[in-house]
Amino acid sequence: MIYIRKADGNDLEKIVMLSERISADLDKGGQAYLFGGVDRYEILMAMQAPSAVIIAEEGSRVLGFLLLQQPSAKEEKEFAEEFPNNYKLGEGIIANGIGVDPTKKKLGIATLMMKTAKKYALNHGFTKFIGTVHPDNIASQKSLASTGEFLKGRYFTLKTRDGRDLLRQRFIQDLT
Ligand SMILES: CC(C)(COP(=O)(O)OP(=O)(O)OC[C@H]1O[C@@H](n2cnc3c(N)ncnc32)[C@H](O)[C@@H]1OP(=O)(O)O)[C@@H](O)C(=O)NCCC(=O)NCCS
Repeated sequence: MIYIRKADGNDLEKIVMLSERISADLDKGGQAYLFGGVDRYEILMAMQAPSAVIIAEEGSRVLGFLLLQQPSAKEEKEFAEEFPNNYKLGEGIIANGIGVDPTKKKLGIATLMMKTAKKYALNHGFTKFIGTVHPDNIASQKSLASTGEFLKGRYFTLKTRDGRDLLRQRFIQDLT
């Protein structure tokens, strides 16, 4: 049975390893540009409340993760500028860094994590999901659609923590 919960420090290494496997799998299929990956630092930062890491597990295996990150002041400003009629400072939490075990895709795991993340966000006073998506990442956009409609902004280049330039669009989703 698949169980969705908030992760803690004991889950760190499993999440790092899963992210590496997902990146390697995408790389093999020539789709590394779809996913920035999540590293130890990002995961640890996302474990500091009100940020949170949501995971899907089956027995002792971690099958999926989703990082919910409180935006920095700079990030908030970028979203407020991109969506002037839809975003007010303090409303949003970043829902990004989602990944599912390559052997367990299309089983609804991302959808389960998104729904739990939505409840977590609302319980912690956030009324919007914000984040970025690759314009061609249908799987991630469909997962995001499982918690409601969303708006997308203009194309821009995001520099990943491992130094890659990835095409992205900011998104915003009302959770209320
Ligand atoms: C994006 C990802 C997390 C989705 O996980 P998942 O558990 O397979 O997603 P779900 O099974 O919950 O599917 C959600 C929806 O997306 C659809 N979907 C999933 N993969 C799809 C694909 N490759 N192509 C088209 N639709 C897809 C499902 O059919 C479902 O749609 P529905 O709600 O209309 O039925 C997973 O594909 C993944 O890990 N991708 C690599 C990492 C990545 O790109 N992350 C996003 C960038 S941060």
